[in-house]
Amino acid sequence: MNEQRVVGGVRAGTPLLRPGHVWLAGAGPGDPGLLTLDAFAGLSQADVVVHDALVDHRVLALAGPQARLEFAGKRGGRPSAEQRDITNRLVELAQGGYRVLRLKGGDPCVFGRGGEEAVALMRAGVPFRIIPGVTAGLAALTAAAIPATFRGLNRALILAAGYGVDDDCPDWSALARTGQPIVLYMAMRNLATIAQALMRGGLAPSTPAAIIVSATTTAERVLVSTLDRVASEAENHQLGTPSIIVIGNIVNLRDQLLDTMAETAP
Ligand SMILES: C[S@@+](CC[C@H](N)C(=O)[O-])C[C@H]1O[C@@H](n2cnc3c(N)ncnc32)[C@H](O)[C@@H]1O
Repeated sequence: MNEQRVVGGVRAGTPLLRPGHVWLAGAGPGDPGLLTLDAFAGLSQADVVVHDALVDHRVLALAGPQARLEFAGKRGGRPSAEQRDITNRLVELAQGGYRVLRLKGGDPCVFGRGGEEAVALMRAGVPFRIIPGVTAGLAALTAAAIPATFRGLNRALILAAGYGVDDDCPDWSALARTGQPIVLYMAMRNLATIAQALMRGGLAPSTPAAIIVSATTTAERVLVSTLDRVASEAENHQLGTPSIIVIGNIVNLRDQLLDTMAETAP
């Protein structure tokens, strides 16, 4: 069964990526199994796939034979001129009559500047769709057997970006006072500073914390620690990026679930 029939079979029909249109889609965290059927349909129809650095090579391999892959890598929050270049390129391709898939890691609108690209397309009069993706902050937890919510433990979950300094940062003390688990994107460089700020805000040093590196890829690594030690242990284990950090009691569930999963495994 080809991909168009797969998508069409569960819907009224296959969504069509038309010439001159842009689909702004999420590719999920890595594992191609977490791609949405609509992103898959976009990959099979696009003339040009403009993708980010974090889109897994196995996902890109699903592009149709007609597709040209264009890398539009942006990592580490470099200057906005580069973002302008990317949006200009999307507009240029669409106005040139191409079917364009703009593919971003995770969900396009979660710390992904998908909203800005959508606004740029809107202003340029380019027809577009936004296709959600599985965001790394949720996928990494579930893949690591850390439930994002668990009755009796939490009724909220905070997603926060950990780059930037001082005024540019969330109010870590205020987040700490909520007592709810915190999921950090792009926070490895500032982890020691953030952990200190959360402890100053009232979180116990013994609060469980975990780092999930390259979630849902073949390079996935998980470190479980506590808030006071997580930064130094990450350094000792030479953990790299991309990484999701989760801080809160939900991390403790991982050990129990892993035990059960091991028992039922073949
Ligand atoms: C610019 S943000 C993009 C987030 C993306 N739009 C999403 O919804 O997942 C990049 C950050 O996402 C996180 N990230 C993305 N993919 C990841 C993965 N497979 N494993 C762990 N963290 C990931 C890391 O914190 C990384 O620094």
